[in-house]
Amino acid sequence: MSNKYHIITFGCQMNEHDSENIGGMLENIGYKNCDDKDSADIVIINTCSIREHADQRFYGVLGQLKKKKLNDPNYIVAVGGCMMQQEHIVETMKEKFPWVDIIFGTHNIEEFPGLLSTYMEKNKKITEILPDREEVPELLPSSRLYKYKSFVNITYGCNNFCTYCIVPYTRGREKSRTMDSVINEVKLLVADGVKEVTYLGQNVNSFKDPDGRDISDLIYETNKIDGLERIRFMTSHPKDLSDRLIQAYVDCDKLCNYIHLPIQSGSTEVLKRMNRKYDRDRYLDIVRKMKKAVPGITISTDIIVGFPGETEENFADTLSMINEVRYDSAFTFLYSIRKGTPAGKYDNQIPDEIKHERFNRLLENVNKITAEKNSEHVGRIEKVLVEGISKNNKSNLMGRTEGYKLVNFPGEESLVGEIISVKIINANTFSLEGEVL
Ligand code: 5AD
Ligand code: SF4
Repeated sequence: MSNKYHIITFGCQMNEHDSENIGGMLENIGYKNCDDKDSADIVIINTCSIREHADQRFYGVLGQLKKKKLNDPNYIVAVGGCMMQQEHIVETMKEKFPWVDIIFGTHNIEEFPGLLSTYMEKNKKITEILPDREEVPELLPSSRLYKYKSFVNITYGCNNFCTYCIVPYTRGREKSRTMDSVINEVKLLVADGVKEVTYLGQNVNSFKDPDGRDISDLIYETNKIDGLERIRFMTSHPKDLSDRLIQAYVDCDKLCNYIHLPIQSGSTEVLKRMNRKYDRDRYLDIVRKMKKAVPGITISTDIIVGFPGETEENFADTLSMINEVRYDSAFTFLYSIRKGTPAGKYDNQIPDEIKHERFNRLLENVNKITAEKNSEHVGRIEKVLVEGISKNNKSNLMGRTEGYKLVNFPGEESLVGEIISVKIINANTFSLEGEVL
């Protein structure tokens, strides 16, 4: 009987993809995936440190695992991911959770099977964190979460140092893969049934391979791959979004009419203090160009509320930005202090009540526009990649439009993996309802 692994992932799509790679490597050495952490032989927690909330959820999960680990010394608990790249957290782990067996970081996930076998041979706890990586890993095995769509890392790390953000410290300096290796990976995925790829990176717009080829070159080349139907990428940084990339939307039929373009704040003053390197006008200019080049493009964003020093007037600029751009969806976050970042030390932190009050107003505004944008789709025919059975109603299927909108509709399971035409008959705030044509 083979051993079973269970992975708990916190955080972003980069982390989800790292977990797919860890799973793939474990399967290569004979482990099987298991849905339940209690019946697994090894549980791996892939942590996220983007906001305080993620830290707290991680400590909650560790609390749940403690009893089982102490009752069963053969149960292996491994912890990796962004939190482990911070010294003060590794110290806390050693002090408060000494029963964790393996601690690793973001720069050595490909060494995980080796760490595991060393741990088993020597029966001795291991902590191995690297400060950064010299070279990016190419073509790791992957236990894919979805059969028909896949993430592909194109850059690792981040050089932008937005003043609120911990990522440049946990993910290291930005490095790009080679374009040939990325294209090769996509071809292998397509041969394995994948129809949609999403290129991943903290800032995909600054992808630059060793031969100087950029994200636009990569998209044009990817568009030529037979059998591939859809291309997406995330996350874009407005400061690096080129006119050539906008043109790629016009020229490349597989590039979906969707962009995730984090604004963070609508106030030029706050953007400057966030070190975002664009202002309100530049952002609006990009949006105008994108909407002109790709009529009907779906735009989503990230917004932080309560950045240190944010005034009511600054916040009003964020609200007006939402009304001006009319985002299809927005991920809204309460600013949270991240130890070691510049903004964490600013002394003009915003009191919690004000942050929450602004957050609620923001959410109301965002949801209203999301609902309005969704309702514009009623009566339209959308191309939907059918991903599987709907979560809330098992007799429905679910899929995504080209614009990344979630659609639920009745249909046969045999449609899963197909791109089909669906007529939208109803719109909710967070999803659409349709019928197969
Ligand atoms: N507080 C709140 N939100 C944050 N983000 C990054 N750092 C912080 C922080 N300290 C948000 C940004 C980013 C998204 C992934 O998380 O909006 O785009
Ligand atoms: Fe963080 Fe800014 Fe880098 Fe995004 S671009 S990961 S927000 S530092």
